[in-house]
Amino acid sequence: MEVTQLAVDQIIKAFLFILFAFFSVFLTLALFFYFSRKKIVKIAVEKKNQEIHYQKEILQSVIQTQEDERMRIAQDLHDDISSKLNIVSLNTHLLKTPNLSESEYNEIIDNVVNLTAKALENSRRIAHDLLPPVFEKFGLHAAIEELVNEFSSAKNVQVKYTNSLDFSYLEVNYQLHIFRILQELLNNSIRHGKASEISINFVENNSKNTCFYSDNGVGFDMKSTNKKRGIGMQNIDSRVNFLGGKINIHSEINKGVQIDFNF
Ligand SMILES: Nc1ncnc2c1ncn2[C@@H]1O[C@H](COP(=O)(O)OP(=O)(O)OP(=O)(O)O)[C@@H](O)[C@H]1O
Ligand SMILES: [Mg+2]
Repeated sequence: MEVTQLAVDQIIKAFLFILFAFFSVFLTLALFFYFSRKKIVKIAVEKKNQEIHYQKEILQSVIQTQEDERMRIAQDLHDDISSKLNIVSLNTHLLKTPNLSESEYNEIIDNVVNLTAKALENSRRIAHDLLPPVFEKFGLHAAIEELVNEFSSAKNVQVKYTNSLDFSYLEVNYQLHIFRILQELLNNSIRHGKASEISINFVENNSKNTCFYSDNGVGFDMKSTNKKRGIGMQNIDSRVNFLGGKINIHSEINKGVQIDFNF
């Protein structure tokens, strides 16, 4: 009888022990999942915050570029058009002066003709800077060819451009972003890199439209430049972002710059 009672006690003890062990394991697992979930949520929130911060930076640089563009156009209009039309206006008023000699009359007319010709030429240049006419008429490929030729002839640099993509199916907006990216890259290669050779190559890479860009200039230190990225590179970032693509930038001092972006 006593032996049976002892066995029952032991079974109960063992049962309680197993129950306790189960409970401990359950509690540990529950705590583990609770905290790891909290950590995952925290990481996700941090990532989202970073994304928002990045979007804000992009927006800021877009606004900044717009303002810079406006200021540049305003200056161009003021210096190259308004000031000339002002003098044209003054000269035409002078024509009303009574008793003008023939030579005075001719001088005024010459002034008016010259100044209007200059104002016309400047207004063409301003319009060209805003949107090259070749772009509207013949699309991105022709516009890049023209850009490359302009750089090659004016800036003492050899620019090699090859393209195996068809841009015609791209929205004009997209084409314009790609054009502006190349303008900035070329300007940087000349201004900062002092490059003598530049290569631009559009190909399909991993079934994505990709542009490979490189120069043989002085390059830059990626670590220090990342901190002082100018508006130019930020704009490129936001344009590539708009194109739904990714950009890779690589450079080392004295080893030029290698950049690729897809869209
Ligand atoms: N091709 C290049 N060769 C050498 N350094 C370069 C090149 N491209 C960019 N850099 C470096 O990266 C920096 C940032 O370039 P970014 O275009 O953003 O600004 P920026 O050209 O100085 O000014 P901006 O806002 O007028 O473009 C440059 O100041 C330069 O130091
Ligand atoms: Mg720049």
